[in-house]
Amino acid sequence: MSNSIFDRAQMSARYIRENAPTAIDLAIVLGSGLGAFAETLANAIVIPYEEIPDFARSTVEGHEGRLVIGKLENKTIAVMQGRFHYYEGYSLEEVTLPIRTFGLLGVKNLILTNAAGGINPNFQPGALMLISDHINFMFQSPLRGNHDDRLGARFPDMTEVYSREYQRIAQRCASELGIRLESGVYLAMQGPNYETPAEIRMMRVLGGDAVGMSTVPEAIVAKQMGLHVLGISLISNAAAGMLDQPINHVEVMEAGARVAEQFIALLKKIISQI
Ligand code: HPA
Repeated sequence: MSNSIFDRAQMSARYIRENAPTAIDLAIVLGSGLGAFAETLANAIVIPYEEIPDFARSTVEGHEGRLVIGKLENKTIAVMQGRFHYYEGYSLEEVTLPIRTFGLLGVKNLILTNAAGGINPNFQPGALMLISDHINFMFQSPLRGNHDDRLGARFPDMTEVYSREYQRIAQRCASELGIRLESGVYLAMQGPNYETPAEIRMMRVLGGDAVGMSTVPEAIVAKQMGLHVLGISLISNAAAGMLDQPINHVEVMEAGARVAEQFIALLKKIISQI
């Protein structure tokens, strides 16, 4: 019989602890085109995902596929330079195993970042959006299946997935830096195709401000395990049909490079305060 999620996360946690034997204060997942942040860590220990027992492999361009653990703002940070997506063919258990692993390592704070299409017409490409809440349009929960009390509640509450306190801190940091930080609802699709204009019109009616293909499964698992979650989307493009032009992955990654400096400055300041 295959190992339980708990056992698999436990094995991954043990490997990480053996290779980076310091307590981790905060974990960050870097989205498409946002990998540059990992270069800002001091005394970094780099662990490729394929070395970590039970971690999957990153197959997407713009996702390096390694865990970088190092120092920033006097804290020990674990950075996932690249994440796993459902559209790569992984189960949501595999997609969220790193979050389980962080939880078992005693990490209390998690920052999830992603690139997303802007549905809210007020968002310009290159904007940063604080995730205030999400809509799970993947229609799958990472918690489906056998329940294990060691990982949290069977029916976890989702009224405040993204910590309001951390949202306030992030807004304050942004205004101190003179960075405009939007706020809105992230809607997750399975992908990997982008949406149709009709789907985007529907999502707008349903309350979505940005659309992407990640983050929500990770946030659900983190919430179940009691982590404080902060989510930030880089609006890399206007969602389908909002402009009379197609969407492509190169554009999504270039948007990351353009705002990398702002994004890194904002993350650093937030990290210093949470
Ligand atoms: N849709 C879905 N995911 C995305 C998009 C988009 O427009 N841009 C970046 N990730």
